[in-house]
Amino acid sequence: MCLRAVGFALFLLAVPPDAEATGDEDLVVLGERVYRKACEPCHGRQGDGTGSIARWLDPLPRDFTLGTFKFRSTMSGSVPTDEDLRRTVDRGIPGNSMPSWQHLLAVGERDAVVAYIKTFSDWFEDGVYPEDIVVTDAQLATPPPPTEEMLAAGREVYARMECAKCHGEDGRGNPDNPLEDDYGRRIVAFDFTTGVYKAGSDPPDVYRSFATGLDSTPMPSYADSLDETERWQLVYYCLSLSRRTTVRDWLLHPPLWNHRMQR
Ligand code: HEC
Ligand code: HEC
Repeated sequence: MCLRAVGFALFLLAVPPDAEATGDEDLVVLGERVYRKACEPCHGRQGDGTGSIARWLDPLPRDFTLGTFKFRSTMSGSVPTDEDLRRTVDRGIPGNSMPSWQHLLAVGERDAVVAYIKTFSDWFEDGVYPEDIVVTDAQLATPPPPTEEMLAAGREVYARMECAKCHGEDGRGNPDNPLEDDYGRRIVAFDFTTGVYKAGSDPPDVYRSFATGLDSTPMPSYADSLDETERWQLVYYCLSLSRRTTVRDWLLHPPLWNHRMQR
């Protein structure tokens, strides 16, 4: 079954596209209406990941009551910012059933549903402290251009940080190291050669994932162990393993590169 189609079918049942909210309370009320139609079949009425179609999905939909999220700009163990949640809602999660809602819900509806899913967990009550943010927009704004030297250096960082223990020497995963997530379910380390990154395939997205780690999975945070330069070197090295977009392509097509970076 095409799961993107599930998302679209759900959208057809969704709230009127002109729905808007003004105050915080209105936002949560509108968010609940959007959630019931668009998210509940997977994430469940109580937000615990047990919606009516959840059992057919692998990976399982996120259980929002735990307050644990993979894609964040915040340190490991912290809740994500509203922008982080909006990014996931807007783009979806490539390669699995979580749909992109960018063209299916109005901006106000996406803001509202973010406000609503935060009500499922007490962890959001205190909000995000500025010191919890380990990847800032400023850090991502001006990545150094990719060069052959950066790629070579990235290969060394990959070896030194022992990424291969889980992701394999060739970036396809290490079959000798079976992994489980925090809930005891089997999970495979990302295969870099697919090029389809769950968190997005632009360099800032890749940077964010290994800087913050992916909570609830074995993927650790490298927030304290890599400096800025090493991180970009690693980003370009990981991306260069992709069968889809090579760093060489970007070097040959700088306008495409610039366009992708500014999105
Ligand atoms: C067809 C099923 C499906 C629908 C519909 C769906 N999701 Fe998801 N969602 C998933 C799955 C599966 C995951 C977990 C993916 C993973 O762990 O790799 C997920 C994960 C998430 C995450 C967690 C990202 C993270 O950082 O860990 C958020 C936030 C989210 N969904 C929000 C929503 C919202 C809001 C809606 C409704 C507008 C929605 N989802 C509708 C399947 C769905
Ligand atoms: C202990 C095992 C482990 C180690 C060590 C590890 N990873 Fe991962 N990594 C994982 C797992 C498991 C996933 C998949 C998580 C998922 O699918 O939700 C992952 C996912 C990722 C992703 C996200 C891909 C996406 O879908 O967006 C990136 C990027 C990544 N790893 C880079 C690295 C780099 C670079 C290193 C070394 C500095 C590294 N990892 C070390 C286990 C590991």
